[in-house]
Amino acid sequence: MWTSVIISLLLVHCLLAGPAPALRDSDAGSWSADEACQEAVKSVMIANQNDSTCATYVYCYVNDSTWALIKSCHSGLFFDADLKFCSIRKPAGCV
Ligand SMILES: *[C@@H]1O[C@H](CO)[C@@H](O)[C@H](O)[C@H]1NC(C)=O
Ligand SMILES: *[C@@H]1O[C@H](CO)[C@@H](O)[C@H](O)[C@H]1NC(C)=O
Repeated sequence: MWTSVIISLLLVHCLLAGPAPALRDSDAGSWSADEACQEAVKSVMIANQNDSTCATYVYCYVNDSTWALIKSCHSGLFFDADLKFCSIRKPAGCV
């Protein structure tokens, strides 16, 4: 009897555990500008994955340390992650 209880508990546990959550852009909770900038060895502009409008970007500024600064594009411009600057053309995936 106990064996079947244990087996069902294990089964429930496996079902609840499920597959590991995939890393997605919409999952802003798992992304942080600070973490994204830790890889930067020199100052670089990267997309703000927490901003689906692309009106802001993250400026990883490296001096004695690494800083993740959230910057805004000028009004009407959108940050293009491929060009690495604010562009008048709204990149695909920006709302
Ligand atoms: C994402 O943006 C929201 C609203 O501006 C802010 O509260 C939150 O801390 C941001 N999350 C990250 C990971 O930057
Ligand atoms: C590095 O840049 C940060 C952010 O602008 C600034 O607060 C800090 O004082 C700078 N450090 C040095 C040593 O210039």
